[in-house]
Amino acid sequence: MKPLRFILFGCFIPYSAALSEYPWTFDNDLLGGPDFWGLLNKHWRMCTMGQMQSPVNIDPSKLFYDAGLSPIVVDNNVVEAELHNTGQLPVLTINDSLILSRNINISGGPGNPYRYRIHKVVVHFGRVIDGEKGSEHTVDFVRFPAEVQLIAYNTDLYANFTEAMTQPRGLLAIAVIVDIGDVTNIELRKLTVASQSITYKDSKTMLKKFNVHGLLPKTTNYVTYEGSLTFPGCYETVTWVIMNNPVYITREDLQIWNDLQQTEFKQPNPVFMFPNYRPLKTLNGRLLRTNIRVKYKRMTTQSCASNVYLDMGYQANPTRSHHRRHALNDNDSHSALPMDKLDSRGDFLKNMESFDYI
Ligand SMILES: *[C@@H]1O[C@H](CO)[C@@H](O)[C@H](O)[C@H]1NC(C)=O
Ligand SMILES: *[C@@H]1O[C@H](CO)[C@@H](O)[C@H](O)[C@H]1NC(C)=O
Ligand SMILES: *[C@@H]1O[C@H](CO)[C@@H](O)[C@H](O)[C@H]1NC(C)=O
Ligand SMILES: *[C@@H]1O[C@H](CO)[C@@H](O)[C@H](O)[C@H]1NC(C)=O
Repeated sequence: MKPLRFILFGCFIPYSAALSEYPWTFDNDLLGGPDFWGLLNKHWRMCTMGQMQSPVNIDPSKLFYDAGLSPIVVDNNVVEAELHNTGQLPVLTINDSLILSRNINISGGPGNPYRYRIHKVVVHFGRVIDGEKGSEHTVDFVRFPAEVQLIAYNTDLYANFTEAMTQPRGLLAIAVIVDIGDVTNIELRKLTVASQSITYKDSKTMLKKFNVHGLLPKTTNYVTYEGSLTFPGCYETVTWVIMNNPVYITREDLQIWNDLQQTEFKQPNPVFMFPNYRPLKTLNGRLLRTNIRVKYKRMTTQSCASNVYLDMGYQANPTRSHHRRHALNDNDSHSALPMDKLDSRGDFLKNMESFDYI
């Protein structure tokens, strides 16, 4: 009887796991890593087959200014939410409240004329101690310390997030880059503090008063494109909105997320959640639209294509190249401009709220 039981066991377990939740991971060295997501579950085939996947690199020289893009409006409501260690990500879930004023609606922006409602907030980060950056989207191939994503579903067309996730025009996601600063954004601080009670997989904690709006930078400028979820099943139902300013976190607070683990219990060799970002996907001709009036400088001297862009970045925003340097590393030999042409570090920090990527 033993061999038979063994065979049954061997066949049954992977099948049932595929039906529920296969143990996928962001670690590409493992079988459940991003390159394999599409093979783990038949409902996840878009992860492999999809041609409009996320995240992508935002190339500032390829932006298309669209005067029809209105500002995006996010309700400024305080809600109760649950923070969950899924083993892959810290996920904050906002219950659809029966009291409508307790929901967070999104209107305007590229989702217009549909209205959306925020359902989840997820955080992506790298290994802080090594200086690894963990944002999913990159700007001119610069990766940033972390990225917070506000994921909303279309309430005009669908009953709930689960239904909307797989359907046309189902989701809208706002990506906010998180950079290192002197003070941590208040709502990010709540997330880091709460993360200390969800170290292990499947642990959960409630946040009584969370203001999702507080995670947004003070800007109306964004870049938008049509893409996918950045975790299985990678459904191509997401209108992405990447805000053009970061919010800030201290290195110490950022490091708190690095304690999160993938296992349900304490292990002799801990399996940490970081880094938890999906590798970049190609645009395949998709349009990167923006409501930022990108100024192209007329070049007077002959120069190569990359110089055109760097020069433009400098014209539009003197601090940008400085940031690029900081974002890569101090040995970066491709630094755009000599430092003496840039604001001093002090001025740069003072002006952080108005810092733009583009
Ligand atoms: C959401 O609702 C369910 C069922 O009513 C409840 O068990 C859960 O605690 C709620 N979660 C949040 C985040 O309010
Ligand atoms: C959110 O939208 C619904 C309709 O979809 C509306 O009834 C509700 O009042 C809105 N909530 C807020 C806070 O405006
Ligand atoms: C979502 O809506 C669908 C369709 O109305 C329904 O069948 C399903 O049970 C709902 N799921 C949740 C989690 O509420
Ligand atoms: C810069 O280069 C030096 C020597 O090549 C190396 O020791 C140092 O770690 C580098 N710094 C960074 C930030 O990469």
